[in-house]
Amino acid sequence: MKFFLDTADLNEIREAESWGVIAGVTTNPSLYAKIGGKLADFEEHIARICSIVSGPVSAETTAMTRDEIVSDGLRLAKIAPNVVVKIPVMAEGLAATHELAKHGVAVNMTLVFSAPQAILAARAGARYISPFIGRFDDIGEDGVEQFSTILQSVHAYDYGHEVEVIAASVRSSNHVTQSALMGADIATVPFSVLKKCIEHPLTDRGLNKFLEDWKKVEQA
Ligand code: G3P
Repeated sequence: MKFFLDTADLNEIREAESWGVIAGVTTNPSLYAKIGGKLADFEEHIARICSIVSGPVSAETTAMTRDEIVSDGLRLAKIAPNVVVKIPVMAEGLAATHELAKHGVAVNMTLVFSAPQAILAARAGARYISPFIGRFDDIGEDGVEQFSTILQSVHAYDYGHEVEVIAASVRSSNHVTQSALMGADIATVPFSVLKKCIEHPLTDRGLNKFLEDWKKVEQA
């Protein structure tokens, strides 16, 4: 499983990139708003992310009609060769995905909550599909189980082009573990979750033990 970083924060991206563990970045309007991003600077910001990360960088369009989504998508795709256009699953989004795929533009279809949505996204030509885990948990459903159903359904077919399923709306290292166990292609994780994934209490204990034992060696 590959890791994408789910953030628009350049410092987080630089730091995770320096660890050599991230294969791409996903952003969305909420994440851009969170860093105080301005609309006029959005495309420049995506360009900055693309200059740090060589893998796929998803930039979301907020357009609602197919023509607007396509024109947004074509513009975003010109920012850098690794830009992926993130489009919500809906009829207009599918039509736009179909059109963008014909132009060779990679699409990440987002806000996916069911197997039929995911399969339709793949059929329309989406290169990436992002089922959300945490948002199911928010409404008292089992996000991991829902993700498993979607993942298995998508992986059961050949779409004539490469399709990777991204575990999105990942809120914990347990979501990451479960996604890996199921064979998710990618997990896109917030920086806080990525840091949690590095940690384990037994690692801390082990480190303390090494340091204490080493002191004994030094004092011997
Ligand atoms: O990748 C999608 C993600 O950004 C949504 O996460 O935590 O808002 O459900 P969340």
